[in-house]
Amino acid sequence: MKIFIDTGDVEAIRRAYDTGMVDGVTTNPTHIANSGRPFKEVIKEICSIVPGPVSAEAMGSNAEQLVQAAEDIAQIADNIVIKIPMNVEGLKAVPVLEDKGIKTNVTMIFSSTQCALAMKAGATFVSIVLSRLDAIANESDILIEDSMMIKSNFNFKSEVLAASLKTQNHALSCFRAGADIITIPESLLFQMYKHSLTTEGLAQFEKDWLKVAQ
Ligand code: E4P
Repeated sequence: MKIFIDTGDVEAIRRAYDTGMVDGVTTNPTHIANSGRPFKEVIKEICSIVPGPVSAEAMGSNAEQLVQAAEDIAQIADNIVIKIPMNVEGLKAVPVLEDKGIKTNVTMIFSSTQCALAMKAGATFVSIVLSRLDAIANESDILIEDSMMIKSNFNFKSEVLAASLKTQNHALSCFRAGADIITIPESLLFQMYKHSLTTEGLAQFEKDWLKVAQ
């Protein structure tokens, strides 16, 4: 079970990585725009904080442009993974990049068949976007389960990366289905540590401990 942080906020990444729970980072053009900083500068800083895979998105309207953009981004650091769009041109770019030793992460997957194609193309990671799907159909649980089944049926090597998780229920569904990785905002990571009974129970122990002769 791996946990990635999904943000372009380097301070959030530092705080999350400090917990010892974080194995990698995912970004997207929106996160980078929200950081207000130049793309390569942010990605370089993230790669220096987290040694695990850091996904940065390549932009382009055909496979050649995507490969060119990916090769440029891959120079930033050794732990870069290139996010590639889930479409015909994107899946043409994936094997080209993987053959060159550049890891790919196919993003914006919303169906099991898309997921199967991305795995067949040889992507290192396949990103299934849960909450955006939940907003229009209650299918995200089945999608993760199907993806794990497809991976196992054909012995595909891609890691199933459950993305766009907004709630602990999303995380729980992914853990139940055995998703390889979840990528989550910093806030959800810290929420997952908490339970009101834990807070209450620990506070009681602290209070009672003061009554014990030391
Ligand atoms: C994860 O890799 C992506 O950044 C994510 O799918 C986008 O998530 P959002 O739906 O929270 O924007």
